[in-house]
Amino acid sequence: APILLLNGPNLNTLGVRQPDVYGSATLDDVVEASAAVAAEVGLELVAFQTNHEGDMLDRIHAARGAVSGIVINPGAWTHTSVALRDALVVPEVPIVEVHISNVHAREEFRHHSYVSPIAAAVIAGCGIAGYGYAVRTLSDLVGGIG
Ligand code: DQA
Repeated sequence: APILLLNGPNLNTLGVRQPDVYGSATLDDVVEASAAVAAEVGLELVAFQTNHEGDMLDRIHAARGAVSGIVINPGAWTHTSVALRDALVVPEVPIVEVHISNVHAREEFRHHSYVSPIAAAVIAGCGIAGYGYAVRTLSDLVGGIG
């Protein structure tokens, strides 16, 4: 089964929003780079981004039985959403949480993650390269070839 790359709110503005914090690469660049790493380790990658929490929950529910693992940058929902965390346990697959920035070096409200306790791994502060690291980590967890 493919792996699923999920990006939460505002990540469609990558490359435009606060490039000093998030860099100049776009979401398309991120998806392309992640898919390339997935291909290297013999995994197919499906990507989804939304600014609507309910749509994200529905997409995660639909992943049950259909994907082997999930890489997610939950954006600001990281710090706010019990509903997202509850949804992420539904597919019963490994989750790797990614943040482009080092959330722990930023405002206090970014230090807590509702997602981290149910994640197999958390990557923060590596820039968009973190997505590639996350795909490699997920590959190790789901038994990819790489
Ligand atoms: C983010 C960090 C979050 O605090 C923020 O709300 C984002 C992006 C990151 O990738 O660094 O939207 O998840």
